[in-house]
Amino acid sequence: MRVMVTGGAGYIGAVIAWELAARGHDVVIYDNLSKGHADSVAGAGELVKGDLLDGETLRRTLSSRRIEAVVHMAASSLVGESVAQPDRYYRNNVEAGLQLLSAMRVLAVRDLVFSSTAAVYGEPAKQPIEESDPTIPTNPYGETKLALERAFPWYARAYGLRHVSLRYFNAAGATERCGERHDPETHLIPIVLDAARSGGEVTVFGDDYATPDGTCVRDYIHVLDLARAHVAALDALSQDRAVAPAYNLGCGGNGYSVTEVVGAARALTGRPIRVRMGPRRAGDPAVLVAASDRIRRELDWRPQLQDLRMILESAWRWLEARPR
Ligand code: UFG
Repeated sequence: MRVMVTGGAGYIGAVIAWELAARGHDVVIYDNLSKGHADSVAGAGELVKGDLLDGETLRRTLSSRRIEAVVHMAASSLVGESVAQPDRYYRNNVEAGLQLLSAMRVLAVRDLVFSSTAAVYGEPAKQPIEESDPTIPTNPYGETKLALERAFPWYARAYGLRHVSLRYFNAAGATERCGERHDPETHLIPIVLDAARSGGEVTVFGDDYATPDGTCVRDYIHVLDLARAHVAALDALSQDRAVAPAYNLGCGGNGYSVTEVVGAARALTGRPIRVRMGPRRAGDPAVLVAASDRIRRELDWRPQLQDLRMILESAWRWLEARPR
């Protein structure tokens, strides 16, 4: 198929672009390069530098490349930033998303796989979180992702859109070509590994949560497992198989606390990794662990790299291969 990946030069988007290409799809990466890196997708497909808010370039790309399906990754995705700048999140996540839906409708592109988030659930009432649990976002990031998710059934009904939303828990790890390169970096695993390499210090955001060791627990999922779920979702849509509107993507189990991640990184790297206890970060739920039975059952997807050590190892290898 000819697939457009919006935000395809970003950390997760690039892994998806490569995975689609490996499965024989023709890939067009549509990215404004505000956060993405052109070099991470060189060879995966054609890179079109464009913004979703630029409707003309968007429609021209869909039409001239005869795109058949879209994986929509482009978004602003930092919880804290979203609270400080909701305007940016409504614009980049809702307004730009609606531009995409409108362009797809005009050009009769029917299939859409959407990058969503555990942040749609807000502060969960129970663990692990199921797709049918209440969605009550506690920040504009989750709110804007949910807003777009909620538009899809209406577009499906009126215009025949076929859609799947994938709600990611904590994406982590690296492939040989692609790893996390955010600026500034806010995610735990790259921060911890960077501290291992540079001798810097990690601040743990709170150790007074109601968890076994007091630090927050998260469900880390390897970025390649995430990418494979997108391919499975796209296959199901294009084969007109019944799909649920949304699937959680995590590894489940008990998740890992911040302290466990630091401990595993020390064991892997053999470096001491200095830690300082800091106050809680606003908006952090104590525990976020996915029930991902639905996607396992319906799309026959399973994580292959769910072991924390494997995730850390891949990220460490990628980091160590880069110049300091
Ligand atoms: N943490 C630290 N110190 C750091 C960085 C993070 O203690 O320097 C802690 C956080 O407080 C959190 C855990 O490590 O408890 C993981 O934090 P990340 O920033 O790596 O990831 P989040 O769980 O905050 O965010 C992820 C995704 C978001 C998504 C969210 C769902 O990155 O896109 O899960 O709530 F919205």
